[in-house]
Order: sequence, then structure tokens, then C-alpha cells
Amino acid sequence: MSLAISLLPSLPFPRITEQNPKKPCFSPSFLYNSATQMENAIRNDQNALRSPSNPNPTTPPPPPPLLSKTAQKKLLKQQRFEARKSEKKAQAKEQKRRESERKRKEWEKRLASLTEEEKTKLIESRKDSRKERMAERSEERERKTERLMRGKEFGQNIVVDLEFSHLMMPNEIHSLVQQIMYCYAVNGRCNSPAHLWLTGCNGEMRTQLERLPGFDKWIIEKESQSYIEALQHQKENLVYLTADSETVLDELDLKKIYIVGGLVDRNRWKGITMKKAEEQGIHTAKLPIGSYLKMSSSQVLTVNQVVEILLKFLETRDWKISFFEVIPSRKRCEVDSEEHQGEVDGKENKERDERTERKKTYIQVPTNG
Ligand SMILES: C[S@@+](CC[C@H](N)C(=O)[O-])C[C@H]1O[C@@H](n2cnc3c(N)ncnc32)[C@H](O)[C@@H]1O
Repeated sequence: MSLAISLLPSLPFPRITEQNPKKPCFSPSFLYNSATQMENAIRNDQNALRSPSNPNPTTPPPPPPLLSKTAQKKLLKQQRFEARKSEKKAQAKEQKRRESERKRKEWEKRLASLTEEEKTKLIESRKDSRKERMAERSEERERKTERLMRGKEFGQNIVVDLEFSHLMMPNEIHSLVQQIMYCYAVNGRCNSPAHLWLTGCNGEMRTQLERLPGFDKWIIEKESQSYIEALQHQKENLVYLTADSETVLDELDLKKIYIVGGLVDRNRWKGITMKKAEEQGIHTAKLPIGSYLKMSSSQVLTVNQVVEILLKFLETRDWKISFFEVIPSRKRCEVDSEEHQGEVDGKENKERDERTERKKTYIQVPTNG
């Protein structure tokens, strides 16, 4: 086995910061170091076969390195992107801290300008509105729990297959965890949520998911077995969604169980899910993207985009709306976006704005696949 491959699992994991002991911090230096280690591993691998103790290796030439030059370049590019993202996140955090500090000072200044009686009134009214807000939030939480419980019983089964964690770099695993968090949040906001499954949920993936606040209470199937074991009695209903399938998905069938590959690989592992499904003898299908829009690059989408498209389709039964609502415009060709523009009515525009706002507020939306 290639040394580069054998080194993969031992790449250093991100440091756990003091400020947030549960959350790994992907510092720029961590990301660069991972890439450098990967490159060194490949170089060492090649040098080992030309070492003085083995000047004329009789062994057959080594297998090609794990990553081609292009793939290495892509990886570095991705890691630089992640590093910039981390920096931006830190800046946003600092800005938020400054903003709350400013508000606190403003409040104190306002109080200082009031009489004792006015002060008490203002403090009381602030307490009341806070209570109202909290009551509203807790009602919404209850409604969400009810919706998710209904989804668990009657909803469309959608599985995220987590059996690929050994093929991902630490930052890719981190990104996948974020994508799953995003899928769960979107599902919780649906009027008729799906029945979500995480299968093959073990090892590093599980460890990282369990670090998410509230993960233990998520209404989702957390299955350590693979889908093929856990759902063995429904094998004929399993449909692996993969961009490499020849079959185009026209409709969603409530009896079927749609599987999405839990992989963030920038398509480094091209065709891996198709191969897996073929070997297991289960159905495959691709999203009907080509029938509705032109993509500026490949039709391979991220896990959260695929899940969100399925959820949108369950709600609208309209692929076009689902694609246009979910696939970012930078991934689509201009002409399609313009053609569709007239068809998106005011309601959808409003929904999209709300969604963008929510994304900004809650989660940084993952962009890499
Ligand atoms: C980032 S992609 C992983 C690509 C990976 N190289 C592969 O072979 O599947 C994540 C997953 O989203 C799903 N997916 C992405 N694009 C899709 C498409 N156009 N049609 C159907 N499924 C898709 C697949 O399940 C895929 O495994």
C-alpha cells in the first residue's frame, strides 16, 4: 500500500480552541500543513523506492501517487479557500462582539438619562418583550418537533451514506458535518419534512457530529450500520442518487429510499457511488438537471444541495423551481437564470430572501462538494 495512503488517517486533527473546546478550529496554518504533509507523503513514497538500500528496485514500479498534480493543485486551492473562509468567520465573530458591546453601551447610556421611575418601566417592558420572544421560540420548537415526528412516520425516506469518511481530509469531514447540519435545519423548516437517515454513522464522522450542540436530540435516524444492512428488507426500494447514473429521476416515490453519498471530494473520487451501487445491485438515478438548466460546470452537487432539492421537490413537485431555488446562480449558465427570472413570482423571491437571511443568521452555507 502506498505510504501516502497509509499516512492519510494520521494527518493532524485541527486544534481544539480554548474559547470553544468542542469546535475544531481550522486555522490557515493547519490547512496548509495538511496539504504540505500530503505532498511530502507522496514525495517520500516515491523516494523510498529509490533509496540507497534499494537503488535498483526489483519491485514493480510504484502505483501512481494518490493525487495527480492537478488534484494536488485543486486540493491546495480548496484549502486556501477554506483558510480564507475561516478568516472571514473570525472577522464576522469579532464584528458581532463589537456590535453587542456597542448595544450594551447604548443601553446603559439610555438608562443613565432616565429618572428612576422611567428606568424601572423600561426595564420591565424589555423583560416582557424578551419573555414573549422566548415563548414564541419555544412554540416554534414544539411545532418543529411535531413536524419532524410526522416526517419520521410518514415522510419520504432520504439516507445520507456516511461510509466514505476514510476518503476525506479532516477539513472535508468538517465540511460534510456542516452540510448535514444544514440538511437537518432545512428539513426542520419544511411543512412536510422527510424522514432523514444517517447510515454508517461511525468513527470520526460520528465523533464530529456528536460535538454539534443538540445533536443528541436531533430527530433523525443515527444508524451505525450501513444502509444495506439496516434496510436489508427493502433492498429493492433502495435508489442511490448519483450524477453518474444513466437513469433520470422523474418523480419521487414514497415507497423508495433515496440515498445520497456523504462525500466532500471535489469529485476526486469520481464515480465511486455509482460503482458502489452497481456492486451492491441496487438502483441508481441522477437528478434531471439537464432537462431544466445548463450548468456552468459539472452536474455534481453537494450533499446539502441534493437533499435540499429533494425537499423542495417534495413541497412543489416542480424540478425547475427546486433547481433554481437551490443551485447557486454562479453554478448555472446565465441564459437559464434569465429565462427563469420571469417565472419566479413574488412569493418565491420573498422566500429566497428569507432563506438567505436565515442562512446568514444561522449557518455558514457550505459551498464545496
Ligand atoms: C459531492 S457529491 C459526491 C461525488 C462523488 N464523487 C460520487 O461519486 O458520488 C455528493 C453526493 O450527492 C449526490 N449527487 C450529487 N450530484 C448529483 C446529481 N446530479 N444527481 C444525483 N445525485 C447527485 C450523490 O449521491 C453524491 O454522492
